[in-house]
Amino acid sequence: MIQEEEAIRFVQLTDSHVRADDRFFRGVDTIEALGQAVAMIDDTVRFVVHTGDLISRPADTESYEVYRSIVEGVGCPIRHIPGNHDDTQLMKTALGGDGEYPWDFTIQGVRFIGLDSASGVLGTDQLNRLATLLTNKEPAVVFLHHHLCPMDRSWLNQFALEDTDALAEVLDGARARVLALIHGHIHFDGTFDFHGIPVYSAPALTAQFDPYGEFLDISPGPPAFVEFTLSRNQELVRTVRTVRACEERRS
Ligand SMILES: [Fe+2]
Ligand SMILES: [Fe+2]
Repeated sequence: MIQEEEAIRFVQLTDSHVRADDRFFRGVDTIEALGQAVAMIDDTVRFVVHTGDLISRPADTESYEVYRSIVEGVGCPIRHIPGNHDDTQLMKTALGGDGEYPWDFTIQGVRFIGLDSASGVLGTDQLNRLATLLTNKEPAVVFLHHHLCPMDRSWLNQFALEDTDALAEVLDGARARVLALIHGHIHFDGTFDFHGIPVYSAPALTAQFDPYGEFLDISPGPPAFVEFTLSRNQELVRTVRTVRACEERRS
C-alpha cells in the first residue's frame, strides 16, 4: 500500500532528440519543444523521468549542454535513463548523478526503478540487480527506453528490446507488485501488456512515428509528454499533454 494519503504525481519526458546545431528533428524544433514542456510542469509534480534519446547524435556534447540548461528549469528532481541515441558516459558527465543502472528510489512505499537499455539489451548483470531490487515487497514502477511488445505488422518491431524473455523471467515472481513498465523509443502513445503487467509508451517530445506506415514514417501528432498520477489504491492515471506545435516554417 502507498503509505500516505497523497497521490504521487510524476512526469515522463521522452525522446526529446535535442539538436544544438540545427535544432530540428523531423520538422520539430527540439529546443523549443523541450522548453515548453519544462514550463508546463507544475509544482505538484514530485519528480520527472526522461526515458531516453535526450539528444539525437551520440557524441554531441553541445546538445547535452543545451539539454541540461533547459531542464535546470524543472522545479523537482529529474532522473534520466539512456536511449539508443544517447552516450551513457557523456550523459553522466553532462548531467551528473545517474550513471549506474538500475537506479532506484522510493516515495511513499513505491519503488521507482530506471534501467539502461541503450544498447538494445538489458544484460544479465543488470537483470540480476533488478531481480534483487524486486525481492522487496514494495510495489514498483519500472522505466526503460525500449519497447517490449510487438505491434501487429509494424516496422518498429525490429527495434524492440532484445532480451525480453530474460526480463520476463525476472518479472515473473514480482508480477503482482510491478504496477507498470513505462518506456519511450517508439514515439507513439500506446498501452500494451507484458506477461500480465501494464506497459505504457509515451509520445515523443519531437516528431511522432507512424508505427503502421512505411519505414520511419512520421504521423502529424504534435510533440507531447505524459503526466502520471498514482493514487493511494495504486491506480495509475495517465494524461498526455501536448506542447504547442514547434514545426519548421517553410515559406
Ligand atoms: Fe527516439
Ligand atoms: Fe530510441
